[in-house]
Amino acid sequence: MTDLPSHDLIAQLRQICGAAHVLTHDDPGADLSPWEQDWRKRVRGHALAVVRPANTPEVAAVVKACAAAGASIVPQGGNTGLVVGGVPDNSGTQIVLSMTRMNAVRAIDPANLTITVEAGCVLQNLQAAAENAGFLFPLSLGAEGSCTIGGNLGTNAGGTQVVRYGNTRELCLGLEVVNAQGEVWNGLTGLRKDNTGYDLRNLMIGSEGTLGIITAATMKLYPLPAAQLTAWAAVPSMQAAVDLLGLAHQRLGPGLTGFEVMNQFALGLVDKHYPQLRVPLWQDTPWCVLLENSDSENEAHARAQFEALLEAALEAGCVSDAVVAENLTQARGLWHIRESITLAQAEEGLNIKHDISIPVSRIPAFVAETDALLAREVPGVRMVDFGHLGDGNLHYNVQAPEGVDGQVFLRDNEERVNTLVFEQVARYDGSISAEHGVGELKVGKLPLYKDPTALAMMRAVKKALDPQNLLNPGRVINCP
Ligand code: FAD
Ligand code: MLT
Ligand code: ZN
Repeated sequence: MTDLPSHDLIAQLRQICGAAHVLTHDDPGADLSPWEQDWRKRVRGHALAVVRPANTPEVAAVVKACAAAGASIVPQGGNTGLVVGGVPDNSGTQIVLSMTRMNAVRAIDPANLTITVEAGCVLQNLQAAAENAGFLFPLSLGAEGSCTIGGNLGTNAGGTQVVRYGNTRELCLGLEVVNAQGEVWNGLTGLRKDNTGYDLRNLMIGSEGTLGIITAATMKLYPLPAAQLTAWAAVPSMQAAVDLLGLAHQRLGPGLTGFEVMNQFALGLVDKHYPQLRVPLWQDTPWCVLLENSDSENEAHARAQFEALLEAALEAGCVSDAVVAENLTQARGLWHIRESITLAQAEEGLNIKHDISIPVSRIPAFVAETDALLAREVPGVRMVDFGHLGDGNLHYNVQAPEGVDGQVFLRDNEERVNTLVFEQVARYDGSISAEHGVGELKVGKLPLYKDPTALAMMRAVKKALDPQNLLNPGRVINCP
């Protein structure tokens, strides 16, 4: 490591990527805020430069130059992450490596059911490319219009189809990665079987840019379902929602492709901030569930299956009312309501987010007990509970009491609210991060809730692969 002065490094980076693709604060009229500010506007960092490579050799050369200069690198995709993992710190010394120019679909192999894309490909464009070729790429989440497959892999994103297709990890077969030394690992295999040693692919997935820079990926494709139906059900309790999930598994089998739960307050926020969305059934029930049935036969079969399920659920008392979307427009409208909760919550003010997982069977008791503890600890808090109940993953979010400013609420309560919720999660054998990752937001909490041997092994891996602590330092695991 030679510790080059920063102007020498910037000059080198401009040579590698072209001057127009290396942005600094010294450029006339420069505004780096889109890359420096996280999506929730919780943190605003200050980068030495934002670098936008066009291809894998450029990424490799950038990493080599940064390694020689001792400058750390923060990989970034669509910057929709929710745990402060993809923005620079405020030291003014870090390089943001924005992957969005690397967005090509490299290949589709219909017989192998795979698609190979560059890391900066926006998820929605990947879904569209798959669909144009007659296939389904099932990863789906509210940020799909701007998040990238590299970010999805970096965070091992979940989303709304996990109950059937799994997390991003389960959808990936191969990766191309630039390591911390600036070498390219070509692991872009489309193989479904390959037992030739350690699973480096799965080590990279979910490592949040701390072990390598993903430049391309080979992802699985699936047949498009012959029909897809969406239903919205009012349920009298969280236990009823869990019972409905059990019935849905029994009756729909692999047809069950989505199972989302939303509490009344979350839906009230959508109704308040986006009244045009016309939220159904929410006023007279504590919880609603959104279900999706994907059928390989035809729509009539899917509808008959769905109606039989809902009738059985009404009879068993786990559903009090329900609507089935009549057409695609109505189905999209229902999903749009679900996907708008995060935005409606942000409109309401800054809140304390928890992205937790608990064994499904224990979620009703967890919610009842933790709601009561929170109400005692911070009187008046409003619970925005929603999420992927089919995966045991709740967004158990805490909104300030009515009339209390979000910033003030967080300043005074975030630490003790987090401690209370995380202690409960631990008591219920859950995880403090189900799908968003650790980032900077939870890096201090991980040692309290993760097995110490696992932490030591994670630290050993980080030190082995990135001995200079160059890649996204201070995220996921602290390596002094
Ligand atoms: P960024 O935010 O840019 O980066 C995220 C992390 O990945 C950072 O640590 C970054 O360093 C790293 N990274 C980015 N690109 C690379 C790369 N090429 N190589 C290595 N590391 C990289 N998440 C879910 O899991 N499920 C949801 O349902 C969901 N819904 C969301 C809804 C909304 C409205 C929003 C705003 C976010 C949501 N998220 C959800 C959170 C977020 O994790 C995802 O949007 C997505 O996976 C992040 O992708 P990105 O391209 O924006 O990554
Ligand atoms: C979601 O499921 O909508 C997301 O993970 C976003 C959030 O937690 O706000
Ligand atoms: Zn989610």
